[in-house]
Amino acid sequence: MKSFRFQSVLLCLALPISFSSFAQSSLPQLGKDAITEIVKAMTLEEKASLVVGTGMRFAGSGTVIGEADGKVPGAAGNTMNFPRFGIPGTVLADGPAGVRIDPYRKDDSSKTYYATAWPVGTLLASSWDTTLVKEVGVAFGNEIKEYGVDVILAPGMNIQRDPLNGRNFEYYSEDPIVSGYMAASIVKGIQSNGVGTSIKHFAANNQETHRNTINAIVSERALREIYLRGFEIAVKNAQPWTVMSSYNKINGTYTSERNDLLTKILRDEWGFKGIVMTDWYGGKDAVAQMKAGNDLIEPGNKSKSQAIIDAVNNGTLDVKLLDNNVGRILNYILKTPSFLKYKYSNVPNFKAHAAIARNAAAAGMVLLKNSNYALPLNRNLKLALFGNTSYETVIGGTGSGFVSVSHNIPIANGLANAGFFIQEDLKINYTNHIQQDKLAHPQKIALNLGTPRMAPEWEATSETIEKAANISEVAIYTIGRNAGEGADRIVSDFNLTNNEKTVIKNIADAFHAKGKKLIVILNIGGAIETASWKDNADAILLAWQPGLEAGNAVADVLIGNVNPSGKLAVSFPVKYEDEPSAKNFPGTPADNPTEVVYEEGIYVGYRFFNSFGVKPAYPFGFGLSYTQFAYSNLKLSSTTFNNKLTAKVTITNTGKVAGKEVVQLYVSAPKSKLDKPSEELKGFAKTALLKPGASQTITFTLTAKDLASFNTNQSAWIADAGNYTIKAGASSEDIKLTKPFTLSKDIVAEKVNKALIPQIPINELKK
Ligand code: BGC
Repeated sequence: MKSFRFQSVLLCLALPISFSSFAQSSLPQLGKDAITEIVKAMTLEEKASLVVGTGMRFAGSGTVIGEADGKVPGAAGNTMNFPRFGIPGTVLADGPAGVRIDPYRKDDSSKTYYATAWPVGTLLASSWDTTLVKEVGVAFGNEIKEYGVDVILAPGMNIQRDPLNGRNFEYYSEDPIVSGYMAASIVKGIQSNGVGTSIKHFAANNQETHRNTINAIVSERALREIYLRGFEIAVKNAQPWTVMSSYNKINGTYTSERNDLLTKILRDEWGFKGIVMTDWYGGKDAVAQMKAGNDLIEPGNKSKSQAIIDAVNNGTLDVKLLDNNVGRILNYILKTPSFLKYKYSNVPNFKAHAAIARNAAAAGMVLLKNSNYALPLNRNLKLALFGNTSYETVIGGTGSGFVSVSHNIPIANGLANAGFFIQEDLKINYTNHIQQDKLAHPQKIALNLGTPRMAPEWEATSETIEKAANISEVAIYTIGRNAGEGADRIVSDFNLTNNEKTVIKNIADAFHAKGKKLIVILNIGGAIETASWKDNADAILLAWQPGLEAGNAVADVLIGNVNPSGKLAVSFPVKYEDEPSAKNFPGTPADNPTEVVYEEGIYVGYRFFNSFGVKPAYPFGFGLSYTQFAYSNLKLSSTTFNNKLTAKVTITNTGKVAGKEVVQLYVSAPKSKLDKPSEELKGFAKTALLKPGASQTITFTLTAKDLASFNTNQSAWIADAGNYTIKAGASSEDIKLTKPFTLSKDIVAEKVNKALIPQIPINELKK
């Protein structure tokens, strides 16, 4: 089911109004005079233009893109300039995996404007390494700034509720703690450059099907504990400059029109200080958006400004409220490079950024299987590379998460760079096949949304496979998938095709008969089916969509230059139907969904699999290393909880090579009136690179809020009295050490507003 963006939208070009000819030195000036003075001096029309961004245009290539005073072609949008007050326009550009701007400019044929494609969000989260993600953010932020952009429309941090969401690759995890800390880290890194971020899409934008209108019906508890919690962590820890409200409705009302979400929760409860902008053309009612505290409507459309002017004039919108939004936007503009007249170079340090992207890509790859030390491989081996995406690797997804790169390193090239010999005839067959498919099905960049066409797999015959098994020493099969904004994946995309399964089986048989190995690489943006074929592979490396240095990073891991240390931030179910969301995704009625009921409640991902005894193919938190780790000395600061508790655990590298371990801290809460998942992640850490025999002790601190569940009746986070268990684990299934503690009486960790109330009863899943 496709719901392409912009489909029913009338594009209006609202040009920035220039008042330079009226410039009067007596007028208050931004940066010199108080914001309140400027707001007082602005006309109603000016205020109504500032809260509405400027329009979009169609690029020569056919893509719909934004135009920011012509400053950064291809940016998604901008805010208006008002020279008479010294208010410049500011530039907002996508997106989560890199700066998405036009690579070519009409007026400048001497240069290109390509950007670094960073590894996708799902890969970054699989590193579980907040330091590394911040480092990516620092470099990313530099590129944002050097391209003249003020705010990057990223990170995407919706919860991966269902494996079929077409935008999962942009998002971090099924778990709000991982999502929240990953988002906070990248926001801190990016913003350390003096440019802004826009954490998105706030909130419950967990599918692409009918995303502009779908009504997500979700309980208050599931919202607070799962769908808002990551945003709360990001806001409280990193103060993003902006938040992007989502397209969808929550419990009957568009998120951009919900005061309880954008003001009561985001600002009053969490202390958010920045501005909220709509997603592009999101919501309907400009006046309701103003009242909700959605300061900026993106992108522009004169009818929106007019509606705001009319509402002030007829008394349905208090001008003081509009002034608040205007004031917040001006405060935002004050911080921007555009206001500070930063002289950007348009020449980011691509070489340094590629090195950081490569390092991050390798750090977030997950080793799912490694029988009999199939990996690492010695260089110089002769490799038979199967699978189209071995040669045309998917470096990232589509839509606003897409990045125009000048070049990228496919897996085949990365392996060749590392010293492997790539079986030539196979390479020629695959590349010819992909080339012919491209000629037969030319793709316009305009279609760079949703699930793009990928060439059907080249059919490796039994003879081809037999020959490869004779002349090559190791087989590699890459399974590739791509998706993105505007469409969800379908179950057949989650499953392997018959051709994929048959070829994998035939390669395994032919190579195993000669004592040779088959390595499978997963070049995907979201979970796929693995249970039916994983026995055929000697090793499986989940490479995700690794950004522009894809092949080099895969090679780094395959040869052991980088010891894999990524772990899954999302569960891989045995079959799609095992997912608790599967029975109502993407909503009802099935042929034209208007609403989706989150009947699984808080039981998303491992919270479901563990609590209901459903075995996933690979559990949340899982990932292998070329070495082994021992967990010891789990010690709690106390056996009773008093406002705070610390847990220490020692990790020792007991294997033969240096490696890093992702340590996960889960808590099992006592049974109470509320349903509780068997365990929930409350903290995580990644060790330093530990040499064989080396140890590191990690300390986790738990507060009452960490122990609390959201009690809907009391609108409060409450830690229930009773017996708790701390579990230190290598994954959500592989708990290494446990320790009990007690809480003698209930603690109200936080009392909050009644908000986001469902309009209809929800038949929520219970244990
Ligand atoms: C997407 C956003 C994006 C915006 C601007 C929307 O369709 O949902 O994530 O930032 O477009 O391109």
